[in-house]
Amino acid sequence: MAIRARIVSVGTALPEKIVGNDHFATYLDTSDEWIVRRTGIKQRRFVDDPKSPTATSDLGSIAAKNAIDKAGIDPATIDAVICATFSPDNFFPSTACAISNKVGASKSFAFDISAACAGFVYGLTIANSLILSGQCKTVLLVGAEVVSRTLDFNDRSTCILFGDGAGAIVLRGEEGERGILSCECFSDGSLGDILKLPVPWNGSPSMFMNGTEVFKNAVRLMTDVTRKAICSARLEFADINLLVPHQANIRIIQAMGEYLGLSEDRVVVNVERFGNTSAASIPIALAEAWDSGRISEGDLVVFAGLGGGLTVGGAVARF
Ligand code: UT7
Repeated sequence: MAIRARIVSVGTALPEKIVGNDHFATYLDTSDEWIVRRTGIKQRRFVDDPKSPTATSDLGSIAAKNAIDKAGIDPATIDAVICATFSPDNFFPSTACAISNKVGASKSFAFDISAACAGFVYGLTIANSLILSGQCKTVLLVGAEVVSRTLDFNDRSTCILFGDGAGAIVLRGEEGERGILSCECFSDGSLGDILKLPVPWNGSPSMFMNGTEVFKNAVRLMTDVTRKAICSARLEFADINLLVPHQANIRIIQAMGEYLGLSEDRVVVNVERFGNTSAASIPIALAEAWDSGRISEGDLVVFAGLGGGLTVGGAVARF
């Protein structure tokens, strides 16, 4: 029987500090009403103090430990640690190296990937390939971001959208029907300028986004990649139990649901409580759905993400 990369467990880490929309209205020309109507976001979590030492690897390692505990594995049996992030602790050493040290994955090789908000699906694609090739048996995949460090808090069109957080999954190679069934990734560098975080020595140190352009492309490309992932898994939409999309804007998620013909009960949404946590958003949404019983053994789940690059990824898994 064929080996598949099964998602064994998921863990999360969310900062305690909750910031509501009213906070932004105290110093910017914005309102709770505008933010909720245009984005669906009501609140987000930020690490305590932008100058405090909470690092992306701190959040990432808490999420990772949570996933490792739920999987019931010895961290020394993890073969690879992959961290998807655009807000790393350092350019190097990688955030994944710091996480592997913090969780005791002492025999792993570790590396970061840069695919912004599509990072989790890109990481899933790499983890799946490492397992199917026989190189790895167990992979820890983490999506972790301290986005608040990258924001211009005077830019009302970006700072209200994002939040900090981390999510992690353990994948293991196993015989059987359960596991990753398809991965589809695509990049379009010609659209690189519509969403970017320049290096500090080359322009603004804060994130830039042309929201309207990103919005249009997000609806189109995330819908396309979801269709492709379902098709390459040789499935039909009717077979899919749940869509777990990147959580950027409720209007993007609703438009996708409409194009794909998925009713609301088959789409996971939590953007109202966490905002856009970039590479962490899909595993955080997955954890909520799984922990609350919305995913049962045998269920088919499709993931879809889009981020700066542009990067686009979709994947189907049988749980
Ligand atoms: O993770 C992937 C990356 N991100 C995304 O997927 C986000 C994609 N984009 C979006 O979610 C939306 O484009 C935004 C939420 C960023 C903006 O919503 P929109 O409905 O596309 O608004 P808009 O950019 O067309 O702006 C409409 C107006 C503008 O004012 P004028 O020029 O019409 O006078 C903006 O300046 O809304 C203004 N505006 C705001 N007003 C109040 C922009 N941000 C705000 C704000 N509060 N926070």
